[in-house]
Amino acid sequence: MCKIVSVHSFRGGTGKSNLIANLAATMAMQNKNIGIIDTDIQSPGIHVIFGLDEDKMDRSLNDYLWGNCQLKDAVYDVGNVLETPERKTTNANGNLYLIPSSIKAGEIARVLREGYDVGRLNDGLQEIIGTLNLDYLLIDTHPGLNEETLLSIAISDVLVVILRPDRQDFQGTAVTVDVARKLQVPKMLLVVNKALPSLDFDKLRQKVEKTYKTPVAGIVPLSEELVELASSDIFCLDYPEHPFSQTVTGIASEILGDRAMVLTPGAKAS
Ligand SMILES: Nc1ncnc2c1ncn2[C@@H]1O[C@H](COP(=O)(O)OP(=O)(O)OP(=O)(O)O)[C@@H](O)[C@H]1O
Ligand SMILES: [Mg+2]
Repeated sequence: MCKIVSVHSFRGGTGKSNLIANLAATMAMQNKNIGIIDTDIQSPGIHVIFGLDEDKMDRSLNDYLWGNCQLKDAVYDVGNVLETPERKTTNANGNLYLIPSSIKAGEIARVLREGYDVGRLNDGLQEIIGTLNLDYLLIDTHPGLNEETLLSIAISDVLVVILRPDRQDFQGTAVTVDVARKLQVPKMLLVVNKALPSLDFDKLRQKVEKTYKTPVAGIVPLSEELVELASSDIFCLDYPEHPFSQTVTGIASEILGDRAMVLTPGAKAS
């Protein structure tokens, strides 16, 4: 049965899209069929990380929401990222699909002006899971809480909430965690991203788990190499041994459910 995994953050720029792209590639390398949908209609971007040329994106989630096509017509097979000759990852048997949102100014403006039927988004997601025979559907979300982020949280089997070690993020994350609890999300995981490598990661984990009473699936270091890559590729495919990639692998294992969750003493799992 397919699991729906939403990656959300209260504030923007926390690293949702990069984390999803890296998680998706890591999971596809483990023979899983992975779909990704960019529901950040106001400010889409994950297609860039997969090198999807916007001029060739003739169909997007927007077309489906406006009733111009079926959702399967807006699916792009991006499995090619796993198979470049340099990467020699020919043992990757999983599939990787992406449903992008439109990056055309007029189409973004139309969504802001007219809105869309969130129920239709839900119908499309359920349909695409069957059509593509997905093991996991990863939902990239718009930061903050709005109608579509609430829908994606409500339909998730796993919610990954990302925050940076920053006071503004700490406060906003409390709101998201609270909403997710009310919506009774079966499994919630926190990821702390952009942590300065000089920080004490164990202490940080303890503090975050205690604050939100939710397990931390990984503390991802701030990485100069990732900044350099500038969302032009999937980092962990190029640098699998890098601490960033190792942490992503750990988070993937927790989503896949093949790693026992170790909670800091005193914190309770949600
Ligand atoms: N661990 C990290 N170390 C350094 N840079 C990072 C790290 N994670 C993400 N970034 C960088 O932060 C920026 C924002 O990342 P990304 O677009 O993935 O965030 P986002 O949460 O999806 O943003 P938005 O809310 O705008 O959709 C990118 O330039 C990305 O390369
Ligand atoms: Mg994003």
